[in-house]
Amino acid sequence: MEVVIVPDAKAGGEIIAEAMAALLRRKPDALLGVATGSTPLPVYEALAGKVRAGAVDASRARICQLDEYVGLPADHPESYRSTVLRQVVEPLGLTADSFMGPDGTAADVQAACEAYDRALSEAGGVDLQLLGIGTDGHIGFNEPCSSLASRTRIKTLTEQTRVDNARFFDGDIDQVPHHVITQGIGTILEARHLVLLATGEGKADAVAQSVEGPVAAVVPASALQLHPHATVVVDEAAASKLKLADYFRHTYTNKPTWQGL
Ligand code: GLP
Repeated sequence: MEVVIVPDAKAGGEIIAEAMAALLRRKPDALLGVATGSTPLPVYEALAGKVRAGAVDASRARICQLDEYVGLPADHPESYRSTVLRQVVEPLGLTADSFMGPDGTAADVQAACEAYDRALSEAGGVDLQLLGIGTDGHIGFNEPCSSLASRTRIKTLTEQTRVDNARFFDGDIDQVPHHVITQGIGTILEARHLVLLATGEGKADAVAQSVEGPVAAVVPASALQLHPHATVVVDEAAASKLKLADYFRHTYTNKPTWQGL
C-alpha cells in the first residue's frame, strides 16, 4: 500500500482532491465513494474549490455513500444522506440525482442492503472510495471483527463509536443510533482505488495497526493491505506511530513517475 505523509490536514485534502480531479478529467462520469466524519472535509472543500475555479468539470460526476444510520429520517440533518448532500453534492453543483446511498429507513433493512450492493455493481462499481478511520480502526461502520469478506449489511455500533459521534448530536450519546448500514469490507475492497485519510494524534494507533500490523478483522482498516491500489494519506500526527515513516517519506519524494496518487 502507498503511504503519503503530508504536513497537515489541508495538504491531505489538496492531494486527494487533485487525485479526484485527475480521475474526473480521465472519466467525467466517475463514481466517487465518499465518507462522512470531520476528516474528509478538507478534501471536499478543495475539490469544490477546483470546480469553482474551472480546474475540473464535475458536472457528470456520480457520488455514493459508504454508510448510513438506521432509523434516522432521511432529512434528519445528521443522516449521512443529508450530510453528503450538504458537504459534497451541493458544493460540487450536483443534485440528488447524481447521488446514491443505502436506505436507512427501509422496513426491510436486509433487502435495502442487498439492493445497495446491487446498485453499486449496476453503476459499474466505485472508481475511487475515500475512507476515514475510526479510533478503533473501523472503516465505514465496519466495527472490529467485521468479516473481511462482508457485504453491505446492518451493524451495531460499539460504545466507543457512539461516544466519538455524539459530537454531531449535541454531545448527547442517547441521540446516536445503535444501528447502521455499512458497505461491507468485501464491498469496499471492490472499489478500483481506495484512499484513506487520517489526521491527528488520535488516529496514530489505528493507522500504525492498519498499515504495519497483520491483516486482521479486529482492525478492519488493515484489509486495505489486500487491495492492489490503496493509498493512505496521513498528517505528521497520525503518522507518529509508524515505524516506517522515514521510508514512506523517502519513497513518496523519490517516486520516478509521480502522477499524483
Ligand atoms: C464514522 C464514519 C466513518 C468515519 C469515522 C471517523 O464512524 N462512519 O466513515 O471514518 O466516523 O470520523 P472522523 O473523521 O470524524 O474522525
